[in-house]
Amino acid sequence: MIRLGLIGSGNMARALALGWGEPVLATDSGSGRAAALVEEVGGEALGSDNATLAQRAEVLVLCHKPYELDAVAAQAGGFGGLVVSVLGGVTLAQLRTAYPGAAVAAVMPNTAVEVRRGVTLVAEGSDAPEAVAELFGRVGTVVTLPDVALGAATGISGVGPAYVALFAEAWIDAGVRAGLKPADATTLVLETLAGTAELIRARAGDTLAVRRGVTSPGGTTARGLRALTDAGVASALHAAMDATRAAP
Ligand SMILES: NC(=O)c1ccc[n+]([C@@H]2O[C@H](COP(=O)([O-])OP(=O)(O)OC[C@H]3O[C@@H](n4cnc5c(N)ncnc54)[C@H](OP(=O)(O)O)[C@@H]3O)[C@@H](O)[C@H]2O)c1
Repeated sequence: MIRLGLIGSGNMARALALGWGEPVLATDSGSGRAAALVEEVGGEALGSDNATLAQRAEVLVLCHKPYELDAVAAQAGGFGGLVVSVLGGVTLAQLRTAYPGAAVAAVMPNTAVEVRRGVTLVAEGSDAPEAVAELFGRVGTVVTLPDVALGAATGISGVGPAYVALFAEAWIDAGVRAGLKPADATTLVLETLAGTAELIRARAGDTLAVRRGVTSPGGTTARGLRALTDAGVASALHAAMDATRAAP
């Protein structure tokens, strides 16, 4: 088993650790979240001691905030193993400068890694691609992309769990308004989302075939689809993509 060291024990670190389901070394900046995390998955919390973590881990997974890159690298000084960064917007070149003696990889997982159905984007040119693909393949799908495509890809898979949760919540609310119990509406929405994803996959991505298969001429689905189109579903998704790519 590789000794994984997580620098930072927040939302992404926890999702990854739960997905991997094996003991980790973990640090935080003083909140105690590292101790809470190792209580769930096993391993050892090292407080804020990134230097000791770097001495003991074989793979460092950077799960702190992007702006802390240089400060954390100074603490982890001289680490010579594999550094995997999940830091949004941090490039391979920046990682190589911060960790000159290490192999470096830039990845962007999403929080569904927690249930091993995540999508992890890997920046093309990352070091140790086989090791990175194996590690993140354990918690979902791995897609390697050139740097120029990572922003757009993050605008789908990185942010996606939040979009799908918003969509599901609104759809459940609509069901409740129409008279369903919340628990029933939740089951219907979640199983319809999961089943339809499988169906579209079985049709090799042919969304139109799936849509046509439900839509009788002049029928209920056709009226619902028209209402969704009029409400701007497609333009909302384009606007959301543009918003993720705009400067904050
Ligand atoms: N959330 C997502 O969906 C997602 C997706 C892809 C990538 N990411 C990336 O993942 C990173 C973390 O995001 P998050 O949502 O997990 O943030 P978060 O919940 O705020 O967690 C950040 C963690 O980093 C710790 N930390 C800060 N400075 C540290 C230091 N010097 N040494 C050790 N630990 C330190 C924090 O410690 P305390 O607990 O003491 O505050 C906290 O545990 C970001 O770079 C983000 O771009 C997030």
